[in-house]
Amino acid sequence: MKITKAVFPAAGFGTRFLPATKSIPKEMLPVVDKPLIQYCVEEAKASGLTEIIFVTGRGKRAIEDYFDTSVELETILKKKDQKEILRLVSNISEDLQYVYTRQKKPLGLGHAIWCAKNIIGGEPFAVFLSDDIIDSKVPVMKQMLRVFGKHPSTILAVQKVPGKKTHMYGIIKGKKVGPGTYRVMDVVEKPKKNPPSNLAIIGRYILAPEIFGAIENTMPDGHGEIQLTDAIKILLKTQDVYACEFSGERFDAGDKTGFLRANISFALKKPEIRDELRRFMKKLVS
Ligand code: G1P
Repeated sequence: MKITKAVFPAAGFGTRFLPATKSIPKEMLPVVDKPLIQYCVEEAKASGLTEIIFVTGRGKRAIEDYFDTSVELETILKKKDQKEILRLVSNISEDLQYVYTRQKKPLGLGHAIWCAKNIIGGEPFAVFLSDDIIDSKVPVMKQMLRVFGKHPSTILAVQKVPGKKTHMYGIIKGKKVGPGTYRVMDVVEKPKKNPPSNLAIIGRYILAPEIFGAIENTMPDGHGEIQLTDAIKILLKTQDVYACEFSGERFDAGDKTGFLRANISFALKKPEIRDELRRFMKKLVS
């Protein structure tokens, strides 16, 4: 079974980046020279997915404009013969189909995904949380699709985190069934104590369509939000769920330090700015 659709929840207020996010969607904050959401869209494309479904909300129109063709801009760049910039700009909208729907109320990640139910229909699909930018040789979604090839069911991306950070993530209890592959026995969203392991769910999922029914049966948490992890727990009662411990460096761009780390790390990969940035950082710490 081929997976072609990817859901990108993008309706949050971005409160951790206020006041910057008062009028700019958090997803559009640049990491070096690209909006952070583009890193994930590129990962989706490099993994062979073709349909991107954004679940947005009020004040997120900049995302639609960004992934659309800008005829005026492209005409000017063509006239000026700025081929390289033109390539960067036109690449964004090529080859992929973009679909938009809205999450009308802030009812949590599970609910955001449920908003894409009618667009997805009855097939398995991918989910990308754009806060998680992952730098890897093989795109993480591609690594997960390989696991899906062997175990065509729900697949969660996981990574080991330090014990003191398990309360910040969905945590799995898993049984190793192959290199970097676990059969998931249980999941807990942000355990305050006694985490079942230190394998944390990172923002990439392949979900079976039955997740929508599970979301409908999920009770809101203490903050009135429907958590995806809680829906996966329900799904586990009737279906197999697997986890893929991916290789790659993950940046939590939803957090100020993680966002700056991502900027520095990706900037240091750019030959045109690398040396000057290095000199500047050396001076800062000397
Ligand atoms: C969400 C999920 C959590 C997961 C995390 C990964 O939490 O609910 O299970 O571990 O993303 O980034 P959030 O960080 O949105 O609170």
